[in-house]
Amino acid sequence: NQIKIFSPATVANVSCGFDVLGFCLDTIGDDMVIRKTTEKGIRISKIVGADLPFEADKNVASVSALALYNDAQPDCGFEIDIYKNIKPGSGIGSSSASASGSVFAINELLGRPYNKTQLTQFAMKGEAIASGCEHADNIAPGIFGGFTLVKSTTPLQVLQLPTPDNLYATIIHPQIEIKTSEARAILPKNIPLQNAITQWSNVGSLVHALHTNDYKLLSDSLNDVVVEPYRSQLIPHFDVVKAEAIKVGALGAGISGSGPSIFALSKSKITAEAVAEAMQNIYSKTDISFNTYVSKIN
Ligand code: HSE
Repeated sequence: NQIKIFSPATVANVSCGFDVLGFCLDTIGDDMVIRKTTEKGIRISKIVGADLPFEADKNVASVSALALYNDAQPDCGFEIDIYKNIKPGSGIGSSSASASGSVFAINELLGRPYNKTQLTQFAMKGEAIASGCEHADNIAPGIFGGFTLVKSTTPLQVLQLPTPDNLYATIIHPQIEIKTSEARAILPKNIPLQNAITQWSNVGSLVHALHTNDYKLLSDSLNDVVVEPYRSQLIPHFDVVKAEAIKVGALGAGISGSGPSIFALSKSKITAEAVAEAMQNIYSKTDISFNTYVSKIN
């Protein structure tokens, strides 16, 4: 009547795939314990590691849980303990991990009445109160694992993409605050046709590279001419971090979600760790504190 789960951090956008591509990390995520209660409804019983609301209609984990609960109408209630390891506002899917974890766990406790697409749909309700819009590019990889592409949100259609062997992600989280709403507000409403052509060529190529284990093509496709030129200005030292990551062997690097975290992809764990060190060296020389993670993409 109780389940403990790990709800992973995720990287949305993956450079060229703004609002559609994402992948799942396995070394950083939140722990959550969800238990059945005789009292009906959804209750947040414990939050460790972050200052987040306990009110069921304000916490993303309970909002998504309520969406599932109201649909399933089970004969019991649930209480949720959240052990937050992903810092809110880090750009690696903190709110989406909370939103996904609760629905995933409750679905398990109910005997799995819902499929992954339905769980993503419920979790989007939680994500919406955190970010102001229902996008699923962090939720989908958290629930499906590996790489995902959100083909559409209405109706929700998620494509699971294959991951080449030995693909590793390095994440550095410089601890400055960037609100997703602000990082979205600075984006242009229209883009030049030439940039659109470059961007969809990169998205298509990246998907092809994942399907064919083509690291060279993957590397060539990790470019973002639409969003990164604007958002990178919000992240101190972004250009040098990216350049150094590539210099030590990363296939490419970009902004994780709406930032401030920066991700890089590498072909081996050794390279991913060298990339982490190169990224750390840059922020060590500043007064910005940071965390780094290296994670295999499965
Ligand atoms: N795709 C979203 C963005 C992810 O970049 O704004 C952040 O929640």
